[in-house]
This record gives sequence, C-alpha cells and structure tokens, in this order.
Amino acid sequence: MEMAALWKLSYGMYAIGTLDGERPTGCIVNTVIQITSDNPVIAISMNKKNYTYECIKRSGRFAVSVLSEQTSQNVIAKLGFSSGRDTDKFDGDIFDWEYMDGLPVVKENSCAHITAEVVSMTEMETHFVILARVKDAVVTSNYTPMTYKYYHEVIKGKAPKNAPTYQAPEAKQDKETWVCGVCGYIYEGDLTQEPDDFVCPVCKQPKSMFEKQ
Ligand SMILES: Cc1cc2nc3c(=O)[nH]c(=O)nc-3n(C[C@H](O)[C@H](O)[C@H](O)COP(=O)(O)O)c2cc1C
Repeated sequence: MEMAALWKLSYGMYAIGTLDGERPTGCIVNTVIQITSDNPVIAISMNKKNYTYECIKRSGRFAVSVLSEQTSQNVIAKLGFSSGRDTDKFDGDIFDWEYMDGLPVVKENSCAHITAEVVSMTEMETHFVILARVKDAVVTSNYTPMTYKYYHEVIKGKAPKNAPTYQAPEAKQDKETWVCGVCGYIYEGDLTQEPDDFVCPVCKQPKSMFEKQ
C-alpha cells in the first residue's frame, strides 16, 4: 500500500475548544468535516490519548475555531503540542479567546466559530470519530482559512504523533541534524551554537528537547 496516496487528501486547521468541568481546554485538529447540510452534522477525529477527547466525552460539547493563514504559530504551539492534563491552555496572554455558548473559541485571526453537541462516538484503533450536531455558527472574518498543506509548506509546521495524518520525519544523512522530540522539526547544523534560550520554531519547546541524529 502506498501511504503517499493518503497524503494527497486535503485538510484544514482548526482549534477544538471544550470544557474540563468549568475549565476551558482543547487542542488543534486538522480533521473537521461537514457530514450533512440540513440541520448540519460535523465530524472530528480525536486521538484517545488526547485530554480533549476525555473532556468532550464528559461534557458532550465542543466548539470549532476555523484558523486562518494569519493565525499565529503560538496558538498552534500552545493548543497542539501540550496537553490540557498538565497545562491551562487558555490561561495567560498567549492568544485572544472568548466564550461562545459557554465554550472557548480562538478570537485571534480566526475565520469562523462553530459550536456542536455530540451525537455519537465511533471507536477506531487510536482515534474516536465524533459526530456532532451544529448548534450555532458565525463567520468572524474574511481571512483565508489555513489549509493543512499551507501549514506544512508555507509555515513549515509539523504535527505530533496524535494527529491522524502524522508522518515520521525523514533523517538526513549528509548533514548534522537535530530533531525536536515534541514536534519532529529538523534543525540542520550545530544546535549547540544556538543561545540557551533557543526554542523550537514550530512547537516553542526548549533546546533540551532536541536530540542529535
Ligand atoms: C497540525 C496539527 C494537527 C493535529 N490534528 C489532530 C487531529 O486531527 N486529531 C487529534 O486527535 N489530534 C490532532 N493533533 C494533536 C493534538 O492537537 C495534540 O496531541 C494536543 O497536544 C492534544 O492536547 P490535549 O491532550 O490537551 O487534548 C494535531 C496537532 C497539530 C499540531
């Protein structure tokens, strides 16, 4: 089977927001699709290991923020490369957010916000496919929605192992390389020459998270 054929599928970039009791939490997904048009139903694919999955299961609700090409990498780093199990992702001033129908949505440079209630959850090996009925939807700007292709090719972003479309980074043989242990970003050259406060440009983790290949 040629896995490269699956890499030809198209996706977007979204922030899922939900509630851990009263605490807002969530994560980045590239998998949101509209299933029906009348009284619309959407679907997301959520890794079982993600804390967001547990919170959606408990609360039965989530919001989708459609990210734009203007969305800062800080939003993706905070929501997509750390876990709500051990961090308050919506705390601090890293990005602007607000509540819509009591669910957290990313305000900063988003294109649209959608809130939904879970209808069913179908278990696959690593992920749950969550079907949800749309409760409300609003367009928030005319910015161009960020596609997964744009995130990879223009922003040079990566996805962690929990993403359903994860591709392992390819090691380069001819140069010294260091790989970020969190997102797989490949640094070419001698990382030890970078200052101590160097952070991964994709997931913002410290230099200590890199391993020499
Ligand atoms: C570009 C990108 C795409 C992602 N797509 C998905 C996805 O479709 N489904 C999923 O379960 N996780 C996806 N992830 C991974 C989660 O965002 C990530 O594992 C996050 O740290 C989970 O946080 P949590 O434990 O607070 O839920 C993606 C991450 C990135 C950066």
